[in-house]
Amino acid sequence: MQTRVLTGITTTGTPHLGNYAGAIRPAIAASRRADVDAFFFLADYHALIKSDDAARIERSRLEIAASWLAAGLDPARVTFYRQSDIPEIPELTWFLTCVTAKGLLNRAHAYKAAVDRNTETGEDADAGITAGLYMYPVLMAADILAFDAHKVPVGRDQIQHLEMARDIGQRFNHIYGRDFFVLPEVQIEEEVATLPGLDGRKMSKSYDNTIPLFAGGAKALREAIMRIVTDSRRPGERKDPESSSLLSIFRAFASDVETVEFQDALRDGMGWGFAKTVLFDRIEKDVAPMRERYEALITKPAEIEDILRAGAAKARAIAAPKIAEIRDAIGLRKAPLVITPPPAQVTATAHGYVSIKANPSKLPRFASFRDGDAGFRFRLFAADGEELLLSVPFADPKAAGALQQRIRKLGHAAVLREDGDALVLELDGEAVARTPQADDELLARLREALAQLVAQD
Ligand code: TRP
Repeated sequence: MQTRVLTGITTTGTPHLGNYAGAIRPAIAASRRADVDAFFFLADYHALIKSDDAARIERSRLEIAASWLAAGLDPARVTFYRQSDIPEIPELTWFLTCVTAKGLLNRAHAYKAAVDRNTETGEDADAGITAGLYMYPVLMAADILAFDAHKVPVGRDQIQHLEMARDIGQRFNHIYGRDFFVLPEVQIEEEVATLPGLDGRKMSKSYDNTIPLFAGGAKALREAIMRIVTDSRRPGERKDPESSSLLSIFRAFASDVETVEFQDALRDGMGWGFAKTVLFDRIEKDVAPMRERYEALITKPAEIEDILRAGAAKARAIAAPKIAEIRDAIGLRKAPLVITPPPAQVTATAHGYVSIKANPSKLPRFASFRDGDAGFRFRLFAADGEELLLSVPFADPKAAGALQQRIRKLGHAAVLREDGDALVLELDGEAVARTPQADDELLARLREALAQLVAQD
């Protein structure tokens, strides 16, 4: 039996070295264990509670996803998704809200701290506090309970939220008379490194003392390291390694043997400037290959998007039947969901959801061709040979192939727009293929073909 381990990453910032050593690296290492079924998600609904800066949230989602992937997260092995791609989470949030005692939320640390600040400054107790902040613990409980996570690795500041998730899950189980939810356990990593920042305090965005992980490249990393505060001992003077941030950071990356050498060198009078160079080189040895992957990924948001969508599909395959069961239990049974493909290919499942079984002899297909100097194009044909789509030209046949792969995954998510006498298929707001004409029959055929491609995939 695998242990399901789940954690969320709030998408408001850009990952720094402390996030890497304290969260990303240990989480990825744990996700490789055979007895762990790991779930990682971008908590972008939680990000809205902290920030209303849309551009920053969008950028942060991308940077955090790229960072985790570059650091070695294997999306085939773990379930990696975005909270906002899982409609079952807000759905469950409401169901849980209705069994959560308001008094429980009154006691949440983050909310209480905000009230205390208001009281101290003579403001109305709830001034500037959103209902989002107040409800934070319920959304977090839904994140966890929707997937029956056994263990939730978090920082100490999140222990109370985990207690609340258990409370809320238990209360729901009690009211509806069955063990709907696994009660999650908090997992506090005692071993992992907490890195000091530039000023020696814990590295944290709120102290503005962070060392970037990938942002700004090797140059920014070196410059930040050079700004780490040290004492005024000169080269040649004996240093006290244990009291230096440099050693704490070095240790988080180096082996025991390397660390002893570094300590000895400091005791033997290695200058701080030189020590910083040694530290930079050691970190760079680990970070450089990851940074290369990061930079490649961050320029290809569409690839990250595909990974996250596939992750969401995996996650929803678990959450959707669970929520369906819960809806039944609380008296909100849903009528079966009906989608368009021909009835012979549709199977209603026990939960009213639908799976599509494709008949391989009757499938739509792509055909690629070279269109003179224009480049490479492809067509999509229906099973009976009718042309449904013609792509725009691509300079690179690989790009044309990648687009076919993306179209295969779209199904009912495909965006089709009428444009003159054709229908246009859009991806990321760009027209990528057109139909030979625009009429309802063709639209229906195209929709059917897209659904069949997904089923086949
Ligand atoms: N609140 C967490 C934090 O700030 C992020 C988070 C959101 C989370 N949902 C979660 C963590 C569910 C674990 C499980 O760190």
